[in-house]
Amino acid sequence: MTRQTAHQAPSQAPHHRAPTETAVHTGAPRPDQHDRAALRAALAAATDDRIVYDLDGIGRQYTDLVHELPGVAVRFAMKACPVDEVLDHLAALGAGFDAASPQEIAQALRTGVAPELIHYGNTVKSDRNIAEAYRLGVRDFATDSLEDVAAIAEHAPGSRVFCRIATTGEGALWGLSHKFGCSPEDALRVLGEARTAGLVPSGLSVHVGSQQMTAEAWGAAVDSLAAVLEALNWRGITPERINLGGGLPALGVLDRRGRPLDPPLDKMFAVIREGMDRLREVNAGPLEFLVEPGRHLVADHGAIRAHVARLTSRRRLDGTPEDWLYLSCGKFNGLYEMDQLQYRLEFPTHPGGQFVNAVVAGPTCDSDDAYAQEGGLVRVPLAVGSGDPVWVHSCGAYAAAYATRGFNGFEPLPYTCIGGSGGRGGPGPEGGTA
Ligand SMILES: Cc1ncc(COP(=O)(O)O)c(C=O)c1O
Repeated sequence: MTRQTAHQAPSQAPHHRAPTETAVHTGAPRPDQHDRAALRAALAAATDDRIVYDLDGIGRQYTDLVHELPGVAVRFAMKACPVDEVLDHLAALGAGFDAASPQEIAQALRTGVAPELIHYGNTVKSDRNIAEAYRLGVRDFATDSLEDVAAIAEHAPGSRVFCRIATTGEGALWGLSHKFGCSPEDALRVLGEARTAGLVPSGLSVHVGSQQMTAEAWGAAVDSLAAVLEALNWRGITPERINLGGGLPALGVLDRRGRPLDPPLDKMFAVIREGMDRLREVNAGPLEFLVEPGRHLVADHGAIRAHVARLTSRRRLDGTPEDWLYLSCGKFNGLYEMDQLQYRLEFPTHPGGQFVNAVVAGPTCDSDDAYAQEGGLVRVPLAVGSGDPVWVHSCGAYAAAYATRGFNGFEPLPYTCIGGSGGRGGPGPEGGTA
């Protein structure tokens, strides 16, 4: 079929789309240390839309992380992928969980992990949330305010609290410090009050922002932690634990303009290791370290098999021509983060041929359901037709949890888990609904 194009003057109709061989980015997934053959085979085998999680890939990512940060306990941030099989697999490898609600705590417990391996990492919680977490056996709570400390003392007496210190969030795609974390001065008051209220002021935490792109962010966080540790020690409080939070990046995603994000992962790990040494020197007693990564463990080991809704051409009001690729999934059913980044797309049935540069958008009747339009064009095979498969790479993080229930009638995608040891049942390998 010959498509009409918006690349020619308005008077020249009918049009032929003006193809280009100029790549905005290549569709092929970024090569990295992990083998993606199994994930690609599952995508190829899928005959309908779904998210595929590669449990072995997630397991390798976990093992690599433990290797890079020896002796550091990992608490997977469940919000990044609350999929039972993924949680089971990580639990079997030794991970604990960072939970943000009693519901997440209950889901984490179903993996069989001991409650000691679960902490309540959300500084926002009601009295009822705290009491329920306590009833479920959780004794470690994040906090950042005197009000929250008072509530924990009342509803989870004797528990351990760790105070989250605010960071700037600079260098991250999503800085998280507006809503969470307090100043170093407040941290002293919060942990002092915790001790007075009969809680154990057990530690400090930070989160440098999600998809952090700089090693310096961890350097700055360590500076802040060191200063607070020293001040706490002066007040006779000797924390036992430092939680270095999440923020470690996915490797295979692109920025809003389609340029590869290239996080300096090795340097990040080196800065974290040096930082831990420094904090151990500063503190008056021994220190344990935790991390609570979300996206880093799962993003690059999940992918979506979607399909093309349609490739179209039209002009804007000012006459500027534009091609649009509408996919069967978007912001509300798997690609929630598409306004801040781009995922690599692959068109398995159109590996070559002519291309157009198009804006990519999801299927809903919502204008936010699209990649950034200025400078964010994606190279799309001219020949794609409605129904052709599209593989969306590196979208294993925050895909399932952020999907809406039927916005515009689009249901959350079903999921399939491959690899692993088979899990413990639940929706089974051919998947529940993500
Ligand atoms: C308390 C906490 N820990 C960990 C994470 C995971 O962050 P990331 O996915 O950037 O590793 C988050 C994300 O929002 C969080 O709020």
